[in-house]
Amino acid sequence: MDDLVALCKRRGFIYPASEIYQGINGFWDYGPLGVELKNNIRDAWWHDMVRCPPAGPDGEALSIVGLDSSIIQNPRAWEASGHVGGFNDPMVDCRESKARYRHDHLLVFRHKSDADVPMFAFLEGEPAPALKRMKKLAKGRSPDDFETVAMTELGDDALPRIVGPDANKPGSLTEPRQFNLMFKTYVGAVQDEDSVAYLRPETAQGIFLNFKNVVDTSRVKVPFGIAQIGKAFRNEVTPRNYIFRSREFEQMEMEWFCHGDEAEKWHSFWCDTRARWWQSIGLQSDNLLMRPHGQDELAHYAKEGQGTFDVEYRFPFTAPGFGELEGVAHRTDYDLKQHQTHSKVKLGYFDADRKETYLPHVIEPAAGLSRGVLALLCEAYTPDPERPSKVYMKFQPRMAPIKAGVFPLVNKEGMPEVARKLYEELRSKHVTQLDVKQAIGRRYARMDEVGTPYCFTIDGDTLSDQTVTVRDRDTAGQDRIALDKVGAFLAEKIG
Ligand code: GAP
Repeated sequence: MDDLVALCKRRGFIYPASEIYQGINGFWDYGPLGVELKNNIRDAWWHDMVRCPPAGPDGEALSIVGLDSSIIQNPRAWEASGHVGGFNDPMVDCRESKARYRHDHLLVFRHKSDADVPMFAFLEGEPAPALKRMKKLAKGRSPDDFETVAMTELGDDALPRIVGPDANKPGSLTEPRQFNLMFKTYVGAVQDEDSVAYLRPETAQGIFLNFKNVVDTSRVKVPFGIAQIGKAFRNEVTPRNYIFRSREFEQMEMEWFCHGDEAEKWHSFWCDTRARWWQSIGLQSDNLLMRPHGQDELAHYAKEGQGTFDVEYRFPFTAPGFGELEGVAHRTDYDLKQHQTHSKVKLGYFDADRKETYLPHVIEPAAGLSRGVLALLCEAYTPDPERPSKVYMKFQPRMAPIKAGVFPLVNKEGMPEVARKLYEELRSKHVTQLDVKQAIGRRYARMDEVGTPYCFTIDGDTLSDQTVTVRDRDTAGQDRIALDKVGAFLAEKIG
């Protein structure tokens, strides 16, 4: 991960937010290449879900429409949705280091037989500092005498014995307390309880709030979907693992409204479809996993017994395990029912085929766009000691932030003029970079490092036979093609 994070900084994919002020924990900025990569994933999702959704289980064309709702809604919406009362994480504070942790993210090294030895807490995947303290404070005992247990398995009576992840003395961690993840703000000039509002913690609620509007104003019929892409905000207790868990991130969510009797059929359809989609944009199937949620992990809206499936990806920091990329939940009619009760506006749908009015059930594929960026970056990162760049980013061409590089072999003898003409032709359709300086090997290396799938070089022969060299990023092999066929070549490869 350290190498990938360094590459992303060096080449302009991702920067820490407010870096010149030492950053702000849990916030990230996307640089020139990061925003291209993110937009490519976003556009592929919108195309494949809204403009051209897959055929349904019976081969019929599905109907999914788009939406772009406000980030701030009436705060009563978040009371109805259950987020004011139930969108909490248990957190513990450390009195010594002043750090705050998610209780369910903490693990503890505990001596297997001696109850007088302190226990050493650490964050999942970050055991090194706790191991160091263990060596210092549990002198003479071997690490083999210790076992790892989840902090949630220990009672509060263990707290006096636990050394916090960033502390030196036992007993500094507090009991777990519930912490609401929504960011609060005030709307209008007066800052009091009546003007409190929340930044949305999920894009989904904007869709439920507009369910009736969409039914009344467009020609959709159940089953149908409403899709939205946008920012969501969660005041995560422990933002970590780069952009995996941040406080501001983007989601791509679709609420699929169907009759309750058909919900199971649609749930399994969307689980399969979504796992296939991630493969279609370049994630290897071995690195993907469909995992049902345990009953203890279900969100407040998910149906017991059926609940949520996660599409998980094997991130370097979770390997050999997997981390969530997307959840596909059966939300039942929970949200529409809650909003109907709280708003006192009838949200029932009259089904002309069934001659019945009902609240549709909802199947929700909820994907993280920011996590998608991270998964594609991890998947693409390919060390290769043979290359000058030592690493190349093997993005699927459709997802690559730069599709083509155009280089004159030397910056003279008519080559720059031909290169510029080709560059102007290609850039009208694809993100293309013209690079006229430095040795050609260095220019290829730069393109390898940012994952540009094809580079076209104009050389002495171009001027006589109207051909160029095309270099393939993955094989580093070179071929010659006609100058006037470059546009068609690229269009075919990029798709
Ligand atoms: N509407 C349902 C919902 O929001 P979720 O599982 O809480 O479900 C959906 O979030 C997706 O949003 C997750 O699978 C993940 O990809 C992304 N996500 C959630 N919290 C995130 C965070 N703090 N940072 C980055 N991505 C996050």
